[in-house]
Amino acid sequence: MTKLVAPHGGGQLKPLLIPEAERAEEHNRARTLKQVPMTSRETSDLIMLAMGAYTPLDGFMGRDDWHGSCADMRLVDGTFWPIPITLSCERNLADSITPGEEVALSDAATGEILGLLEVTEKYEIDREFECSHVYRTTDTAHPGAAKVLASSGVNIAGRVMALSEGDYPERYRGLFLRPAETRALFAEKGWSTVAAFQTRNPMHRSHEYLAKIGVEVCDGVLIHQVLGALKPGDIPAEVRTRAIDALVEHYFVPGTCVQAGYPIEMRYAGPREALLHAVFRQNFGCSHLIVGRDHAGVGDYYGPFDAHHAFDALPEGSLITRPLKMDVTFYCYRCDGIATGRTCPHPNEDRLQISGTRLREMFRNGDTISTEFSRPEVLEILREYYSQH
Ligand code: ADX
Repeated sequence: MTKLVAPHGGGQLKPLLIPEAERAEEHNRARTLKQVPMTSRETSDLIMLAMGAYTPLDGFMGRDDWHGSCADMRLVDGTFWPIPITLSCERNLADSITPGEEVALSDAATGEILGLLEVTEKYEIDREFECSHVYRTTDTAHPGAAKVLASSGVNIAGRVMALSEGDYPERYRGLFLRPAETRALFAEKGWSTVAAFQTRNPMHRSHEYLAKIGVEVCDGVLIHQVLGALKPGDIPAEVRTRAIDALVEHYFVPGTCVQAGYPIEMRYAGPREALLHAVFRQNFGCSHLIVGRDHAGVGDYYGPFDAHHAFDALPEGSLITRPLKMDVTFYCYRCDGIATGRTCPHPNEDRLQISGTRLREMFRNGDTISTEFSRPEVLEILREYYSQH
């Protein structure tokens, strides 16, 4: 019998997507209500709620949960939650909404109605307060903080009834797996412990090494990639998926890894985001999260191991899912393989540092990229992509 970690909060998974048979009728009703447009980040969060990834949340947070999540990483009921999941609303529109009213939630980019919100509260937020706690900066050059600072400063909150997961299930058929589905897959494979490898990059040798440590110490690894909006310059999900497929096919033992994608939009909140990654990986059934250098970071806002320290500082019982903390990985010519600062005694001159940013530069400059950096099957796919972009 397998025994996967319990969903966050200790209860059952709580997907907020209503059964298919009820969707058409609710959709017709939604069309008669006021529409609140959601940013791409909010749409991603709604779909995370819909699929059960944000269990035990039942909607967008009210003021006290927002405040608790920013300041102490706790909701009012004591649940550990490191980043607020909230919905902003333009001031004029918010003025026209009365608590108790139901509104339709639509994706601002497409106009598609994706859910209904039973509004229980409207409240002002201190955007600088949120940014300084969650992002540790109020710099508008930080892509996550910038979105908070550009919001109206008014949030609306309440229970969500999700009517759709947008085009994710269709567009990423086979890759878009809900927590109930990854759990079923793990159970079918007889896995109890699963390491999640979070990524928004095609996988290079260093990523392969990290994911394989997950295979070494757990029953298997979930290679779990971000499908929501990324920063300009990041590689599209379709290309990453092909690159990861090629890597898995040629370099992993069959049956040791599951590949899936999930719809979050990166906030680049570094340590706080690493904690959120662990929270929802627990919902997907993962007992461990691989946390390497500058996990979910951007620029120089966070120290390379701040995310490790964030886990160390958590009070007992906050989370079941544990971090697999990894040092910086690189190729060492003298070790003749991938190693980390913990396993390789050689100086920097012997080491080839591997990063997605560096690789992008090399492709742009037309440099030859060695197979110490990335597997030939992966390079082939990226070369084709960069030749057209
Ligand atoms: S992200 O979530 O951290 O933005 P990314 O794809 O860049 O995703 O990295 C995936 C995971 O691999 C993260 O845990 C990150 O810390 C880790 N990682 C990536 N490159 C390295 C490296 N060279 N050394 C150690 N860890 C790394």
